[in-house]
Formats: sequence, C-alpha cells, structure tokens
Amino acid sequence: MAKLMGLSRTDARRAVENGKVTVVQFGLGKLGLPLAVAIAAAGAKVVGVDLNEALVDALNRGENPLPEEPGLSELIPELVSKGRLKATTNWREAVKLGDVYVVAVPVTVEEDMRPRLSALLDVSEKMAHGLAPGDIVLIETTLPLGTTRRVAALLEEKSGLRHGVDFGVVHAPERTSSGRMLRDITESYPKIVGSDSAEALEAAVGFYSAINRKGVIEVSSSIAAEAVKVFEGVYRYVNIALANELALYAEEKGFNVWEVIDAANTQPYCHLHRPGAGVGGHCIPVYPRFVLYDALKMGFDARVLEAARRVNDAMPLHAVYLLVRALNDLGKPVRGSRVLVVGLTYRPHVREYFMTPAAPIVEELKDMGALLYAYEPAALKEDFERFGVKEWRGEEVDAALIVSGYKEFAEMVSRGEVKAEAIVDARGVVSREKAEAAGYKVYRLGEG
Ligand SMILES: NC(=O)c1ccc[n+]([C@@H]2O[C@H](COP(=O)([O-])OP(=O)(O)OC[C@H]3O[C@@H](n4cnc5c(N)ncnc54)[C@H](O)[C@@H]3O)[C@@H](O)[C@H]2O)c1
Repeated sequence: MAKLMGLSRTDARRAVENGKVTVVQFGLGKLGLPLAVAIAAAGAKVVGVDLNEALVDALNRGENPLPEEPGLSELIPELVSKGRLKATTNWREAVKLGDVYVVAVPVTVEEDMRPRLSALLDVSEKMAHGLAPGDIVLIETTLPLGTTRRVAALLEEKSGLRHGVDFGVVHAPERTSSGRMLRDITESYPKIVGSDSAEALEAAVGFYSAINRKGVIEVSSSIAAEAVKVFEGVYRYVNIALANELALYAEEKGFNVWEVIDAANTQPYCHLHRPGAGVGGHCIPVYPRFVLYDALKMGFDARVLEAARRVNDAMPLHAVYLLVRALNDLGKPVRGSRVLVVGLTYRPHVREYFMTPAAPIVEELKDMGALLYAYEPAALKEDFERFGVKEWRGEEVDAALIVSGYKEFAEMVSRGEVKAEAIVDARGVVSREKAEAAGYKVYRLGEG
C-alpha cells in the first residue's frame, strides 16, 4: 500500500487509480457516503467509520441508505461486492489501515453560535491512534477558520509524529448540494485544497485529481481553504438576507418582488437571491455564525453579517404574521384554526431539521393555539411526533402556510386539490393566478 506524503501529484494520482491507497473515512452521512463512493469508484479502497450501526450494516449488505442521491444505488452494490467499499463501527481496527484519512463528520453551532466541534475532535483523537509516517488527513467538513491547524496540533500531540514532516493535514472543503452529491463531488466544480504542509498539499492535489474531473485549485494555507468555503456560504446568506429585506419592502410598498427579481437578474451583474421563510440546514445558517462567533471573541465588528442574521432570523415570524393576516381576513382567530404547515425540513425532500424555519413557526402557532397539520414527504412518523403535529392526509384546513418550496404541493393548489380557504406562500412557489382561479385566497411573501 502507498503512503502519499512525499509523492508528486502525478504519482499520488496514479497510486489512487491503481488501487494502492487505503482510505479510512470518518462519517458516512449525507456528504460522507457519496464521498466514500466517489473515492472508491476512483480506485482507492475505502473503509468508512460511523457510529450508526444500522447504516454500517446496510452499507455492508450493499444497500443504499441514501436512495434520493442519484448514482449511489448502482455504485454501492458493485463497490461493496468488489471489496473496495466497506463500513465499520470499529474505529480501533479501522485506523490501523489508513494511508489517507478523510473527515466528513458535521461541525455545527450551538445556540450561542459557539462552534460544535465535538465530533471533529473525537475523530481526530481516534485517527491519532492509527496515524503513521507518510499519512495524510483530508478534512472535507466545513470548518471555522483556524480549525485545521488545531486538528494538526492535536494529532501531533496525541501521536507523537510531526506535522509537515511525518504527516500532513489538508483542508479540502466539500462543495455539494443534497440531491446531486455524487455529481458535485466528481464534476460540478473544481476541488479546493489548502494546507500548511507543502508535501501533503502536493499529495492531496494528486488524490483529488483522480476524483474530480473539474480539476483542483490550490490555495496557500489551510486557513485560506477554510475561508473559501465559509465565504461561499456567507455570500449566499447575506444575499438571501438582502432578498428578504427587499421582499418586506415590496410588501409595504405594494408591489410584487418576485417579478422584479426575475427581471433585474436578466442583467449580468445582478444576482438577486430568492426571499423565503428563513434559512435552515447545517450549512448556510451555520457558516456565518462561525465568523460571527470569531468576531465576538476578537472584538471585530461584523456589521453586515450581524444585520443579515437579524433579517434572516426574523423571517419565520414574518411567515407567521402573513398567516395571521390571512386568518384574520377569514374572520378566524389563530386559536382553534386548522393550519397546514407545508415543509418541516429546511429544503424539500431533504430529511434535515437542523435550524429549520419550520421549528419556530410550529412553536409559535402552537403557542397561539392553532391545530397543526404538516405536509412533509421527507418525514418519518417519529418526525411528526417530535414536532408535535399531525401528518396531513388531505384533511380540510383553514389555511396552508408554505414554509419550504414543495413544488408538488403548489401544483396540488393549482389543481384545487387542497381543502383550504387560504394559501399563504412564503417561498414563491404558488401561481397566484392559478390558485385564485381554483378558488383560494392567496397571500405571498413579497407581494403588497
Ligand atoms: N448534506 C449536505 O447537503 C451537505 C451540503 C454541504 C455541506 N455539507 C457538509 O457535510 C458535513 C457533514 O454533514 P452531513 O450532511 O454528511 O451530516 P450527516 O448528519 O448526514 O452525517 C454525519 C455522519 O457522521 C456520523 N458521525 C457523527 N459523529 C461521528 C463520530 N464521532 N465518529 C464517526 N461518525 C460520526 C453520523 O453518524 C452520520 O452518519 C457538514 O458539516 C457540512 O460541512 C453537507
């Protein structure tokens, strides 16, 4: 088996493609599983380590735990049967095998914006048990700036090896979206890599050249690579806040923000984003908080980001306000009204509830005494129970509030199939014309 530290990029790439490299990867979730598949498909042997036994067992049987991700159902059985991909909960055995370690466990934030690094630190300690001279560590998880250096220091301390001499840590941030993970990993965008070890960086360029057809972009340090990924998220977060503010302005002023955004974006310098009921998931709302928390500690005044956070955090309650107005027009108090919340997850068809706008919306409506149903195709029975809402099976309601942009629900509205008097659309997915023609009262975010 081949150690990559010290190899040229060409030799490192060849070693991966020729099946000479064993990768031990921590985390087989929504990012980690497609990543492990892409690495194994490129030629490496991958041993995935996860805490979730059911997931590990399913994978070892050749089953695809993420059927919604294109490409996995074909590749997983093939790679597992060829012995190129396997999973385990036994990290002690696994860490002995690695030439390359890949980290794909989540880093999120606490309520007070403090980064939640526990999973990352846990797997770092575990890796240190197996780390051997010549190994490289590739951290794919999006990180608060400076964390790669912290992991390198921890690995030095726990393994007794020297960073940059015996082993190297590289930040190689994933740039993916659920629903198209495999494509994003292998061909949508170039891979970004940054390290404080020149040798590890060279090897990482070779490693990712075997996986990503769009090529690899090297930046000068691990912190620069961390910043690339965090800034991509910050850019989207701030622009969503801008769109949200313009939507609120349009409501006050009395015009339709959606048609304005579409028309303005025909000019190549304008990229107005889409307003909505709030920003959720463990990516876009998290990365600005990495910066905000850092700013708080450093005494740096992050004025734009702080303003964006205030705007975005206020959107779930604005969606509730639109619903209250709709019920008011029907002459109904919230208490006792039957309300259908459309979308509990932060994004259609992705079973992820971290920071989902539906959580404060449901809480507020419950507090006001509404009888709540939810339409959520991604949810399991226990998810409805956890939110304390009933799964909607077509029951008649007073109003439906669209929190995440389920197009199939919008089409049911267009066809008049939802038994409700009012439709409140906080995502801009419902056609006002068609919904009104079907007999609904329609309220849309960003329309005065
Ligand atoms: N899912 C996406 O669409 C997406 C998009 C962009 C970025 N990301 C990134 O991916 C990272 C990982 O997120 P995800 O979506 O894969 O999360 P996830 O919750 O789907 O999966 C995380 C996996 O890691 C495992 N895990 C957690 N702690 C562990 C530990 N200590 N040891 C071993 N396994 C452990 C969990 O059991 C789970 O299977 C995020 O931090 C984010 O940077 C994900």
